[in-house]
Amino acid sequence: MKNIIIFGAPGSGKGTYSDEIVKRYNMGHISTGDVLRAEIKGGTELGKTAKSYIDQGQLLPDSLMIDILAKTYDAMPTGQGVIFDGFPRTIAQAEALKQMLAERKHDMGVMVELIVDEETLLARLLNRAIEQGRADDNEETIKKRFAVYHAQTEPLAEWFEKEGMRHTFTWKGDKDVMLGEIFAYLDTLK
Ligand code: AP5
Ligand code: MG
Repeated sequence: MKNIIIFGAPGSGKGTYSDEIVKRYNMGHISTGDVLRAEIKGGTELGKTAKSYIDQGQLLPDSLMIDILAKTYDAMPTGQGVIFDGFPRTIAQAEALKQMLAERKHDMGVMVELIVDEETLLARLLNRAIEQGRADDNEETIKKRFAVYHAQTEPLAEWFEKEGMRHTFTWKGDKDVMLGEIFAYLDTLK
């Protein structure tokens, strides 16, 4: 499978659908949020820095994230393709990813955009707060994450459009329907 960039607001299902895509196509998966949460759990210096941003619903600095992404990518097998989940989140990160992959003679692949209404997003994240207790899943921080998404990340969709990579899937109230649409598209790439 080609590389896949899974793109969408907090709670849009990037992690959930990545797990399903990984199972079907046997790919690698990099979730930058998961990488940072593992650092926080491990009590590392990076984890301490990450926590100060994540708790505020803010993005970490691009230079730091670009470095983390390259190290994570180089440490994993890439032959079957990789899903990038939560990266890139800014134009600078997108440009850096493009350059990093070009240097390795790897293709950027495709972008899968998940569009979900904000009421559903909020309900999902508040429910996850009860089930998993993620520190940034409280209403105040969720609202900040939505605002950061609209200001800094959403404009990137146009960047992918210009690259000819953008493929949009819209939530219509049924997880399996959306998953079926995503698989139907990805199957055409194999
Ligand atoms: P990150 O971990 O990437 O969080 P996020 O973008 O806010 O997204 P989530 O993980 O909350 O949601 P998701 O889209 O994965 O949805 P999920 O599948 O879990 O980033 C966290 C923080 O780290 C950032 O705020 C930032 O501080 C920092 N960071 C990370 N990357 C960075 C970068 N590149 N640059 C700078 N900073 C960075 O689904 C949500 C819930 O809904 C789940 O519980 C799921 O089970 C449930 N659900 C219910 N129904 C459905 C359905 N039908 N489809 C999908 N999910 C469903
Ligand atoms: Mg996630």
